[in-house]
Amino acid sequence: MGCRMKKVIILTGAGISAESGIKTFRDSDGLWENYPIEDVATPEGWRRNPELVLKFYNERRKQLSEVVPNDAHTALQRLEARYDVQIITQNVDNLHERAGSSKILHLHGLLTQARSSVDDSLVYDIGEKAIAMGDVCEKGSQLRPHIVWFGEMVPNIEIAARMVEKSDILVIIGTSLVVYPAAGLLNYAPKYCRKFLIDPNAPAMSHVPQMTIMKEKAGTGVPKLVDKLLNEN
Ligand code: APR
Repeated sequence: MGCRMKKVIILTGAGISAESGIKTFRDSDGLWENYPIEDVATPEGWRRNPELVLKFYNERRKQLSEVVPNDAHTALQRLEARYDVQIITQNVDNLHERAGSSKILHLHGLLTQARSSVDDSLVYDIGEKAIAMGDVCEKGSQLRPHIVWFGEMVPNIEIAARMVEKSDILVIIGTSLVVYPAAGLLNYAPKYCRKFLIDPNAPAMSHVPQMTIMKEKAGTGVPKLVDKLLNEN
């Protein structure tokens, strides 16, 4: 009977894109695609060497044309047939968008957008195009990647917390849950909310009520869970 669709919040990290061929962060010795994180993902790195930072994200952006969504991304799109699905992702790739999911909140920004380095509200869609030194916003300042770097605020975190507070089901996929504030989102889930964690290296979560751990890769674990949830409803 019930007419309200159950609200499913999906929190994703780098692990969901691993089987598409995008490397995770912490599986690679503090380097991100061979670059030290403090050089390419901090405001200090940007001030020291903006050319290097632009080159790094231009490469990441270019890589998007060489990868496609995997079975985990497409399964989450299928879940929309019977549930109100909201994705909250830490990833800066656009694989959820390309799989057709309709509600996606990016916590750490998006590779296919650039923004002003003086006014955070000036954000531009750039697709897979490179950002060059000398490319400027409408106020004349250098464009930077629309990425949240270490040490920067996460502007969408409050919105994300309000979403998690209202979830009937919370599914966490492929994240080491070590980077705050994103890692703290789990704490906003109601007690009654059913929770699932899909990650081959998932830690024990015995303190979390209603938690089911699936030690599996996203490409197999997510379709399995999605089919189960679709059958329930
Ligand atoms: N399927 C599911 N999970 C996987 C897979 C897979 N095929 N392969 C690896 N994983 C898991 C790992 O076990 C690990 O728990 O994905 C997780 C990746 O963790 P991290 O590399 O720490 O990535 P993430 O949690 O997304 O990092 C958070 O840190 O560097 C910053 O801003 C960046 O958004 C990023 C944030």
